[in-house]
Amino acid sequence: MQQKKMDDAILNVLISEREIARQIEILGSKLTSEYADRNPMFVGILKGCFVFMSDLLRSVDIYCDMDFMAVSSYGDGTITTGAVKITKDLNRDIEGRDVIIVEDILDSGVTLSYLKSYLLNRNPKSIKIVTLLDKPTRRKADIKPDYSCFEVPDEFVVGYGLDYAEQYRNLPYIGILKPEIYSE
Ligand code: IMP
Ligand code: MG
Repeated sequence: MQQKKMDDAILNVLISEREIARQIEILGSKLTSEYADRNPMFVGILKGCFVFMSDLLRSVDIYCDMDFMAVSSYGDGTITTGAVKITKDLNRDIEGRDVIIVEDILDSGVTLSYLKSYLLNRNPKSIKIVTLLDKPTRRKADIKPDYSCFEVPDEFVVGYGLDYAEQYRNLPYIGILKPEIYSE
């Protein structure tokens, strides 16, 4: 595979493009059969979801719509501050709908447990959580993904939508960032 400029900042590739594509195909088929005829609404959590969501939704063969929310909890660091602020809310109504939240990674779970109860107040028919990555060893909130593609170890990862200080989202794979990058 061709060398990319950003590869210099990566200690090692944790999940390749090919492995990601394969797991997304599997998840897409699962959602296609579980949500057939339910017209679910996919709710992506910006910005981390943007690559995963675009690939996932193209592998789902059902009528559906989508909307996005944005939250800030991290600043530019690698450790959560614990506070969740909604910076962009939904434009569409979710009452009576089957909602599928799409996230890049479930880490402490603070963001998603807050968002899930926030959205439950609007009386959707159901809410499920889909995440590309699950880092269960760091969980603080009592929450699990309903669907996840990969479990990852307690390392700071970037790429395929995930950032460090807003960089590296456009790497096509998931990589572990060299520690010297964030201790600089
Ligand atoms: P949580 O509230 O701790 O579960 O944090 C979720 C958010 O933190 C994710 O949506 C990511 O934006 C960010 N995050 C957590 N772990 C990582 C990581 O390893 N790399 C990049 N972003 C991360
Ligand atoms: Mg982030």
